[in-house]
Amino acid sequence: MSTTPHILIVGNDSSLQSEFEAALGSLRKWTPVLHHARSHRQAVEVARSRHPEIICTQLEGDPRAIKPFAEEIQAVSPGTSVVALYRPENLGFGENEHTVIIEAMRSQVQDFLRRPLAAPELQQLLDRLLRRPTEVRRELGRILSFVSNKGGVGKSTMSVSTAVELARRVEPGRVLLVDVSLHLGSCAPMLDLAPTTSLASAAREKSRLDETLLRKLVARHECGLDVLSAPIDAVEAADIDDEALTRVLALARRSYDYVIVDTFPMLDGMIMAILDLSDRAYVIAQNTVPNVLGCARLLPVLLHLGYPRERTRVVLNNNFESAPGGLTLSDVEARLEREVDFVVPYQKRLITALNTGRPYMLHGNRWWGFGRTVKKLVDDIQDTLPVSRGAEAPVARMEGDPAAALAGAE
Ligand SMILES: Nc1ncnc2c1ncn2[C@@H]1O[C@H](COP(=O)(O)OP(=O)(O)O)[C@@H](O)[C@H]1O
Ligand SMILES: [Mg+2]
Repeated sequence: MSTTPHILIVGNDSSLQSEFEAALGSLRKWTPVLHHARSHRQAVEVARSRHPEIICTQLEGDPRAIKPFAEEIQAVSPGTSVVALYRPENLGFGENEHTVIIEAMRSQVQDFLRRPLAAPELQQLLDRLLRRPTEVRRELGRILSFVSNKGGVGKSTMSVSTAVELARRVEPGRVLLVDVSLHLGSCAPMLDLAPTTSLASAAREKSRLDETLLRKLVARHECGLDVLSAPIDAVEAADIDDEALTRVLALARRSYDYVIVDTFPMLDGMIMAILDLSDRAYVIAQNTVPNVLGCARLLPVLLHLGYPRERTRVVLNNNFESAPGGLTLSDVEARLEREVDFVVPYQKRLITALNTGRPYMLHGNRWWGFGRTVKKLVDDIQDTLPVSRGAEAPVARMEGDPAAALAGAE
C-alpha cells in the first residue's frame, strides 16, 4: 500500500472538508487523497468503484444507524475501514461518549475521530489502520466465551483446555486466550506463565492499541497459544471497563483466528460486552441442583440478549466424582429444557495439571475421558466456525521485553 491512502469523507458539511485539509498539512509520512460523497448511498457507489482505504462518516444520533451502511461497505469493498467522526457534545444519543463508542463498534465501525479534527489524532488513526503495508484485510477470527453464573464449575479448566487443543492444531500465534476473571485470574498459572503485562495493560493502551502492541502484551505458551492474562490485582482491574474490553476483543478477532475468553460469573456490562462480540457462548453447568437451576435461569437471559440456541453450547462438567443421588443427564436436560451438547467426565489428574502448570491437553490422555471430550468440542469449533484466511502468513510477533516495549511506546 502506498503512503497516499484514499480517504472518502461522507457528508455535506463544508467545515469538515476544511478541517481535513488543515490536518493533512501537518501529517508525517502520509499524504492522503481526499474524496467526498454527499450521502451514504453515494459513498457506497464510490467505494464500489474506488475502494478507498478509509471512509469517514459522521456519527449523529443513534450509532446503530451506521450499521447497514458499514455492512454495505464491507460487502462492496471488504478492504475499506469505516471510521466514525463525532463531536462529543452533540452525540444526541442520550448517553455518554463511552456508550456510544461501544454501540458504534457493534455496528462495525472500526475506529473513531473526534471533531474538530486534530492532526495528531488523524496521524495515529492512519498509523493504526494502515501501518502494515503488506497486510491483506482478513476474515475476522471467532470469539468463543465460557460463561456460567457460578464460580468453581470449570470455566477456566474448559477455556484453557479448549485454547490449548486449538493452538496445537493451528500455526503458532493464531489462538489467543483472554482471561477476564478480573479478581482471580487463573489461566496464566494453569499454563505456568508469569506475564508482566495483562488485559489491564491493553485497557490502558486502548486508544492506540493495534495488532503489534496487542502481540507485545500477550505471553506465548510453548504450544503456540498466546495468553492475555488477567490483571494482577484489584487496582489494575479498575483500569478495565466494558469499552476497553470491547476494543481489545474487537482487535483480537482481527489479529487471531480464535479468541477464547474465560469469564467470571457476573451478568454486568462487561459480560454483555463479551457476549456481544462472541460468536458462541459455552455455558458451563455442573450436575448439582443449585447449579443446574442457575443455569436454567441463565439460558433464557442469553436468548434475550440475542443468543439463539445455535450460538450457545451447554457443557455439563462433572467436576465432582459421581456420587450416589447425583443428577442424571436426563434430569439436567429436563431442567434446562434443552439438550446438553458436551458431557465432560471427571478427571482426577486435572488437579495435578492445575498445580504443575502442565496443561492436561498436552500431557494427559487425549483418547478417552476428559481429553476426548475436549477434542470433540474443538472438532465442533473447527467444523462449525472455520476461519479461512487464505495463504497469508501471520504477522510476525514482536520479540523482546513487553514492559520495555510498552515504556518505549509511550
Ligand atoms: N472435569 C473435571 N474433573 C475434575 N476436576 C475438575 C474438572 N473440571 C474442573 N475441575 C476442577 O474444579 C476446580 C474449579 O475449576 P475452574 O476451572 O477453576 O472453575 P471456574 O473457572 O468456573 O471457577 C478446579 O480445581 C479444577 O481443577
Ligand atoms: Mg475461573
